[in-house]
Amino acid sequence: MFDEKPIISKWVADIYDQKVTETEDVDFLLSVIGNEPKRVLEVCCGSGRILIPLAKAGHTVIGIDADTFMLDKVSAKAAGLEKIEWHKADAVHDDWGSGFNVVVLADNILYNIVSDMDYKKAQELFIKKAASSLVPGGYVYIAYSPGGYNITKPGQSQSHKDNGSRVVWEGTDNDGNYGKMILLPGSFNAETSLNSFSRRFELTFANDGKISQDIDCVKHFATLEQIHGWLSDAGFIIELECEGFDKKTINDESCEVIIYAQKK
Ligand SMILES: C[S@@+](CC[C@H](N)C(=O)[O-])C[C@H]1O[C@@H](n2cnc3c(N)ncnc32)[C@H](O)[C@@H]1O
Repeated sequence: MFDEKPIISKWVADIYDQKVTETEDVDFLLSVIGNEPKRVLEVCCGSGRILIPLAKAGHTVIGIDADTFMLDKVSAKAAGLEKIEWHKADAVHDDWGSGFNVVVLADNILYNIVSDMDYKKAQELFIKKAASSLVPGGYVYIAYSPGGYNITKPGQSQSHKDNGSRVVWEGTDNDGNYGKMILLPGSFNAETSLNSFSRRFELTFANDGKISQDIDCVKHFATLEQIHGWLSDAGFIIELECEGFDKKTINDESCEVIIYAQKK
């Protein structure tokens, strides 16, 4: 019998690596960090989409992630690079290290944290841990876009008006297993600001056999105001705050924010 979880995780890692190849956010991050070489921690670095360009730009980088299938992909991409390290860690429970000039919380990780901890607490903890692992004067970089929810008006969704299922990914992993990840309709609880939904994985294996598994997900929608409060409590001062890579001013309709904040 297949151990279903690992085969799904492996499929996800392969498909993520094949399909998520955008560079616009990476270029923006590099421009914000600047050219001077820095010691950078990327929390939840996945398969290295951001970590590798950071190292190629001359920064000394450390990446942590809980998913070994994702991390397994980093070494081939890091060939020839010297100032790069990565290791498996649960970013909620494990230590992040210290002495960093920049901590990167990119690609909406504040919304997408996977944890057994209360999600709101885990989000606040990420900001506290960023502060603890930075040198004085260091920066946290946050790219946050909570699933189409308006960041200034709690609970108002811009993009979740249709409640049907949709295929998010479809493809064949590096072992020849074909599959789909389908997002099933979810619900938003205005009291708790928790968004609950399931992802359905339907895989057809290269060597015969199929599985379908629903994996429940819960995400906490934090408002911009909450993020401001957590940053302030952790001793950060916001230096840059904008919507998108063309640096639009945040307004009442904004569903995403990029923040670059300095630890006092
Ligand atoms: C969507 S991927 C993004 C990877 C990378 N930052 C990028 O932009 O390509 C999110 C990653 O967060 C990791 N992750 C989520 N919660 C985590 C946790 N509590 N500890 C460590 N890694 C976590 C997942 O394993 C996954 O690799």
